[in-house]
Amino acid sequence: MRRQAREAAPMNWRINGPTGDCRIALGRFPQDLAEYCPTGPAVVVADAAVYARYSSLFPRAPLVELPPGEAAKSLDVVRQLYDKFLAFECDRGSLILAVGGGVTCDVTGFAAATYLRGMPCGYVPTTLLAQADAAIGGKTGVNFHGYKNLVGAFQQPRFVLCDPALLKTLPAAEVRHGLAEVVKHAAIADADGFRFLESETERILALDDAVLPRLIGDSIRIKTAIVNRDARESGERRLLNFGHTIGHALEKTPGAPHGEAIARGMAATARLSVRLGSLPAADAARLLALLERFGLPTQTALPRKVLLDALAKDKKRLQGTLHFVLLEKIGQAVVRPLRLEELAAAWDDLPQL
Ligand SMILES: NC(=O)c1ccc[n+]([C@@H]2O[C@H](COP(=O)([O-])OP(=O)(O)OC[C@H]3O[C@@H](n4cnc5c(N)ncnc54)[C@H](O)[C@@H]3O)[C@@H](O)[C@H]2O)c1
Ligand SMILES: [Zn+2]
Repeated sequence: MRRQAREAAPMNWRINGPTGDCRIALGRFPQDLAEYCPTGPAVVVADAAVYARYSSLFPRAPLVELPPGEAAKSLDVVRQLYDKFLAFECDRGSLILAVGGGVTCDVTGFAAATYLRGMPCGYVPTTLLAQADAAIGGKTGVNFHGYKNLVGAFQQPRFVLCDPALLKTLPAAEVRHGLAEVVKHAAIADADGFRFLESETERILALDDAVLPRLIGDSIRIKTAIVNRDARESGERRLLNFGHTIGHALEKTPGAPHGEAIARGMAATARLSVRLGSLPAADAARLLALLERFGLPTQTALPRKVLLDALAKDKKRLQGTLHFVLLEKIGQAVVRPLRLEELAAAWDDLPQL
């Protein structure tokens, strides 16, 4: 009965607050675009690989293509976008539409947030990671001198239109990366959603239309609710960093994709949560098993020194306090300040599970 009520729920959400107002919907691209942007976009910024596949769906508007990949999250690309906005005579009434994965949304959102002190933008995210996570919440930015997202701004897009049909062309590895963040959302805030992931693993991996709306919708609902309570990450929003503190240290390994690093980071943090007495071992084992069924890695071998050096760097950047998100049970997490010495003592003695 409860499940039926939930499945019938409308698939749209809102973020309202100090970083702006945003409407988020599961819908169809391009059919539903007119509802969110009736006069059409002034400029479309697209991942070139996405444009190559879906050009026939794009609205008529000046187009800027970005090279696929993380390298596009740079100030050089922001500058190129400013040049285009100037050339296309954009003003504060011009809406910039980003169509692509998290990279396209992050860099376009940042360019729009800063040009003319802020122009409206909208996102059509085309990866699972972007629909379930990156496009939601109003964090925009680029990488700088090897630091991820060091330069950025909080600004909500006007809308985020997520069309699950666009995910059908995603490479399997990109699906797995998105699933890491989906598992994260369920693990910290949604025990019922976690059970759904456990029971529908096969259909989820096959991107079955019967499960995609709930898969994406659950993540959007969880992230939207948290962002509405803490838009600028001064408290509760830190929960969304579950697995990311250790994950970022693991990500320093060349070639480690974010989704895999986060999966390993969540596995390590679950083991740590058990070691520190905050999480039952059986719950940690469920998390590891689910990640593995989604084809995500859970091994966390990393020399203590490498981990601590990376965390010490993070700690400096975070003005001395390392906030750790520990699990208390599946569906519930807590933010704890943790001293590096405490972590060091626990790291060599994590339970295997
Ligand atoms: N702003 C936030 O809150 C937030 C949160 C999480 C992650 N992020 C950022 O998101 C970025 C990662 O996003 P991502 O995983 O979407 O990466 P991405 O944008 O690089 O896309 C991954 C790959 O998928 C391809 N692709 C995209 N859509 C496709 C489609 N429909 N069919 C086939 N191929 C497609 C792209 O060309 C690219 O090669 C990182 O930079 C990360 O920092 C931001
Ligand atoms: Zn992440």
